[in-house]
Amino acid sequence: MAVTILGILWRDLTTAQRSSTALWVVNSDTPATNVVEAGFHVYPSLYQDSKLHFFIFWTADGYKSTGCYNLKCQGFVMVNWDILTPGDIIDNGPQTGDWLLFREDTGKPQLIGYWPKSLFTTLDKSASTVRWGGSVSYLSDATGPPMGSGHYASELEGKAAYIKNIQLFNSEGQSYDLLDGAQNPYTDKIDCYNVSALVNSGRYGYQDGCMFYFGGPAGCTS
Ligand SMILES: *[C@@H]1O[C@H](CO)[C@@H](O)[C@H](O)[C@H]1NC(C)=O
Repeated sequence: MAVTILGILWRDLTTAQRSSTALWVVNSDTPATNVVEAGFHVYPSLYQDSKLHFFIFWTADGYKSTGCYNLKCQGFVMVNWDILTPGDIIDNGPQTGDWLLFREDTGKPQLIGYWPKSLFTTLDKSASTVRWGGSVSYLSDATGPPMGSGHYASELEGKAAYIKNIQLFNSEGQSYDLLDGAQNPYTDKIDCYNVSALVNSGRYGYQDGCMFYFGGPAGCTS
């Protein structure tokens, strides 16, 4: 799948807070939930700073003992274009079953790396769910950090954070838009953080593809 993320996050987080904007590819079948995740976050206890970081994550056992953030454990395989020799075989075409991570903001898709399917117990075949959005964490006796840009979804363009140009790809590598009504917007603290409907912006004369807004300010007390 492909997305454009605006992850302008408030930088002022306390050590026990985390705020992320990401996409998740999940298979929650037995024996255990498998997840790959990529996005941007502010996570002071992971980095000892309040800067915005690009991050990746994986787990093959429902966040118990496998997987990690970034390259803190073995698993994600970096593809380093700097040390590629012309003629090298790049052995992960669309049919390998590995989960490939590209960046496209540089004009043409560049492979950052991949999660080999051998890491997983259920994601080695397919995903059952893909998710896009924001996620925060904080201690139960403290207040919440901002999500997204710190504005509610309903503040829309120029204020609220968004995820745009959401597309899925079929096994032939052809992209297609999400079907109307085939998604479930989800929020578990509706008073603090919310999410707009997913719309195909083309219908309103915009070129942002399928998109939605999300987020909320700091200070959540529930
Ligand atoms: C989000 O929450 C704000 C503040 O409570 C509210 O004004 C707005 O209508 C909500 N928007 C959505 C899309 O739920």
